[in-house]
Amino acid sequence: MNRKNVLKILSVVGTRPNFIKIAPLLKEMKRVPQIETFLVHTGQHYDREMSEAFFEDLDIPAPDRRLPVQSGSPASQIGEIMMCLEPVLSQYQPNVVLVVGDVNSTLAAALAAVKARIPVAHVEAGLRSFDRTMPEETNRILTDAVADLLFVSEPSGMENLRREGIHANRMFLVGNVMIDTLRRCVPGADCPTCLTDLGLDESSKTPTPPKYAVLTLHRQGLVDNPQRLMRVWNVMEEIGNEIPIIFPVHPRTRMRLEDAGLKSQRGKGFGNAEGIRMVAPLSYLQFISLQRRAVMVMTDSGGVQEETTVLGVPCLTLRENTERPITVTQGT
Ligand code: UD1
Ligand code: UDP
Repeated sequence: MNRKNVLKILSVVGTRPNFIKIAPLLKEMKRVPQIETFLVHTGQHYDREMSEAFFEDLDIPAPDRRLPVQSGSPASQIGEIMMCLEPVLSQYQPNVVLVVGDVNSTLAAALAAVKARIPVAHVEAGLRSFDRTMPEETNRILTDAVADLLFVSEPSGMENLRREGIHANRMFLVGNVMIDTLRRCVPGADCPTCLTDLGLDESSKTPTPPKYAVLTLHRQGLVDNPQRLMRVWNVMEEIGNEIPIIFPVHPRTRMRLEDAGLKSQRGKGFGNAEGIRMVAPLSYLQFISLQRRAVMVMTDSGGVQEETTVLGVPCLTLRENTERPITVTQGT
């Protein structure tokens, strides 16, 4: 093929939800001969269970470049990603930089690209919680402000962008890539051994399937505030007396729970429907398998709100607002 006709798209990912969102896009891009892809992993999430496990479950090709960034304060994380990405952009010279979601890696990559005068495409543009205390909200606003192409997942996003003065020819309502991944994976995410691994086999002695709730928590405004965290924990202990709660614990939350001296009642049996069972973060297929059979999900995760909507599982969103109003108007 004439190299002049090749469209070079450099995608940047860094966190768990980014991997889930980029998977279907990489698959589609691979089918188009004129597109050449290059994948950069910033390193923002680096534990095996927060990173590699998703590449394996979702069949994502290994990144072409890994940046050595990892955790840090917002400014150091964003600044380091920008500095590490600059030479990669200058070497690879992409026609477009593709970013997904609302995490620090998303904003950092968008800023690095715009400074290198490379057009930016943002997938999951336009979402707004109208809560600027959320780090993700400023990431969304700033990424959208510098992006050239804005791909929007739900109608509220189009309205928000219009209100912010984004020209109609830059925004496209395209649907939700996280749900594309979900739809592709649900048939394979029916993994009884996943539930057994979580100790849910005890109830398999009874004729009815095990009843349990699922909990995820990681939003900074909740888990980094000891009073709020304690309030939620106390409520969960009460609910845990009614129905077992499976709680795959995000690394940020694990640290905060340890700081607060909170522990799950691991010893208690599920037959007695007691307690909160804390486990390490689950792989995607394990988590979907768990989620789809849950009696209810309690979460502050953006992606999980959307997934429960599609899976038809009741979801209690443990937040005062959501940037995904469709999960309230059409959700569960
Ligand atoms: C980030 C995103 C958040 C997103 C979430 C998805 C930002 C500002 N926040 O939050 O929007 O919903 O990812 O899960 O970008 N850590 C580990 N191992 C890891 C990753 C993190 O131990 O693999 C620990 C580190 O101590 C780190 C802390 O978790 O300081 C927080 O990680 P960070 O990536 O800064 O933010 P998240 O809370 O993961
Ligand atoms: N998820 C997972 N394992 C877990 C918890 C969540 O695979 O133990 C998946 C979940 O199905 C969803 C995504 O992670 O697809 C959501 O990511 P997260 O909650 O970390 O971030 P957010 O969506 O809030 O940005």
